[in-house]
Amino acid sequence: MHSPPLTLGILGGGQLARMTAQAAQRLGVRVAILDAAPGSPAAQVTPLEFVGRWQDAGAVRRFAAACDVVTLENEFIDAEVLAALEAEGKPVHPGAAAVARIQDKLVQKQVLARAQLAVAPFAPVAAAADALACGREFGYPFLLKARRDAYDGNGNRTVRAPEEVGPAMEALGYPARALYAERHVPFRAELATLVARGRDGDTRSYPLVESRQERHICKWVLAPARVDGRIRALAGELARAAAETVGAVGIVGVELFLGPEDAVLINELAPRPHNTGHYSIEACATSQFENHVRAVLGWPLGDPDLIVPAAAMVNLLGRREGPARLDDLPAALGRGRAKLHLYGKAESRVGRKLGHVTVVGDDADACLREALAVDAALTL
Ligand SMILES: Nc1ncnc2c1ncn2[C@@H]1O[C@H](COP(=O)(O)OP(=O)(O)OP(=O)(O)O)[C@@H](O)[C@H]1O
Ligand SMILES: [Mg+2]
Repeated sequence: MHSPPLTLGILGGGQLARMTAQAAQRLGVRVAILDAAPGSPAAQVTPLEFVGRWQDAGAVRRFAAACDVVTLENEFIDAEVLAALEAEGKPVHPGAAAVARIQDKLVQKQVLARAQLAVAPFAPVAAAADALACGREFGYPFLLKARRDAYDGNGNRTVRAPEEVGPAMEALGYPARALYAERHVPFRAELATLVARGRDGDTRSYPLVESRQERHICKWVLAPARVDGRIRALAGELARAAAETVGAVGIVGVELFLGPEDAVLINELAPRPHNTGHYSIEACATSQFENHVRAVLGWPLGDPDLIVPAAAMVNLLGRREGPARLDDLPAALGRGRAKLHLYGKAESRVGRKLGHVTVVGDDADACLREALAVDAALTL
């Protein structure tokens, strides 16, 4: 396949890059990281650390020169930066064109809608008058969202009445930040899945999972989702079609709503490993991180199926500001079947993802209870 050592470069050094790096290293691949901050979670697991900003074309080029293939851990890196690398002949996966279809959430919705894939009604918002028109058309509440660079709900506001439009736009950074509006979906549950897509277009679909967001941040994931076969098939088809529509190589994370009357809608896509897929490290034949590595390197994809009856993943979210505290770790480690993953972040912040815990077993509810108990035992 290649003469080692092959070097995979990851743009971004957070926990997704760290877990991708660990999967790559197991396959004998060296990993280089580019992040603006030294000592990032991913840089802690490889000596090939580059410190620099993704907006700095020189820093990106120097980094890419050390890599055989470049991938990314978030969709915030300008597609033009990726296009410049491609123009110099560097293999970049997912490529600039796929990232451009995803990184602006309004464009993403337009691409999906044009392909007749189900999404909630949406509209661009260039001025307050547009948002007020959305309120009349969609009804209240509706959502205002930042078109770019949003994560963990920090780019979303729920607008409950016309007088909330102005403050919500301001809170989201308007007019410096471009916005769009979306109808509120009164979902019964949030679902998610992953599609691995190889360089040759081969795709593999991961199980459908159920996710719970608290204050717009993922708190836990249950695999498999407790839904019937019809919904599972619908969601699987939608996700695969979405991944093909954007044409991304690697993992595509697909967030879904299970709406009224069992309708399945796409919430959003991510062209990279996704928080709702962390359970796959312990619960699937091939983890999302390994399949991302295989896909971007042009290697055959692995089997994504569950190898256990059920799994639960709970995010360990910071509860305070200040140095992350690990003094209660021994108590948490002493618990049953829980697999603890910590990301090496020195500072805690409210809602910051510091780690996660996965429990696999026969019964999803029992797994979730056990994982939540570990979370509760930690100070974070
Ligand atoms: N149209 C909608 N109707 C109802 N709830 C919504 C809608 N859009 C978003 N939400 C809620 O807000 C959460 C976060 O929204 P979204 O996925 O757009 O934001 P994000 O900042 O990209 O989040 P993340 O990076 O955590 O996925 C969703 O998981 C859902 O719980
Ligand atoms: Mg989301």
